[in-house]
Amino acid sequence: MSTNQDLFDLHGRTALITGASRGIGLAIARTLGLAGAKVTLTARKAEPLQRAAQDLCAQGIDALGLPCHQGDPCAIASLFEHLDQENRTPNILVINAATNPVHGPLLDLELDAWRKILEVNLTGALVTAQHGARRMVQHGRGSVILLSSIAGLEPMPGLGAYSVSKMGLLTLMRALARELGPHGVRVNALAPGLIETQLSAALFADQEGYRRFLAGVALGRHGQPQDLVGAALFLAGEASAYMTGQVLVVDGGRVLH
Ligand SMILES: NC(=O)c1ccc[n+]([C@@H]2O[C@H](COP(=O)([O-])OP(=O)(O)OC[C@H]3O[C@@H](n4cnc5c(N)ncnc54)[C@H](OP(=O)(O)O)[C@@H]3O)[C@@H](O)[C@H]2O)c1
Repeated sequence: MSTNQDLFDLHGRTALITGASRGIGLAIARTLGLAGAKVTLTARKAEPLQRAAQDLCAQGIDALGLPCHQGDPCAIASLFEHLDQENRTPNILVINAATNPVHGPLLDLELDAWRKILEVNLTGALVTAQHGARRMVQHGRGSVILLSSIAGLEPMPGLGAYSVSKMGLLTLMRALARELGPHGVRVNALAPGLIETQLSAALFADQEGYRRFLAGVALGRHGQPQDLVGAALFLAGEASAYMTGQVLVVDGGRVLH
């Protein structure tokens, strides 16, 4: 019989967290590492990524930073080959990297921005999941966590393309869960609300919009990256062993079902 502690113990597990040089990805990487997992972090810029990995190592975590652009399928393939060689093939995969270069109405959206958002947030997530899940299927075990958003449940004003990408991720998550369940691989999603990071800086800068948003948050505050880590740890390990195809909303009570 497992103890409560075993449910959240990740010793012997190997995690890959994309987009983890800062923000939510870094907080999740730290938590999975402190729970015992060997963690690999990706991001585009090498320097901040190495600093983040070193910071985790200084906390006693086995952490490695490997630059990889989630919009580049060849780079993703090379990343997984590298992980295989380094004995870091993930059995926990957190697909977290995302971009949102534009704010404004969909009617004004340039096609280039639309393509970039879908390429990184959705196609890149698919390609990453394919490489990770193929390996998990071989071992009959694994947990994939996709970072969606409450914008994927309810489109947010000014964030049309981003919302489409995050809604697409939820359907990708469910389709993968259906396909991979028989192979022992679980796939779930996190849907954060407004979290204070670089990605959301523009939403904080719009004071009127921020106040309007916050008025609808039951807990009366925006979130910090640390607010996501409990749910991520739950989805990564044995505590959620009988759960797949689900979305955990971590938004302080903005979207009430
Ligand atoms: N913050 C929020 O309010 C909020 C709300 C809902 C959902 N989310 C989701 O949570 C996830 C994390 O967001 P965050 O707020 O923590 O963002 P963030 O602080 O801006 O961090 C994004 C991370 O992803 C990396 N990254 C960006 N583009 C990348 C690419 N093409 N390939 C690989 N890495 C890339 C960044 O490093 P480089 O720039 O060096 O690549 C950075 O490490 C995203 O999926 C986001 O959509 C955030």
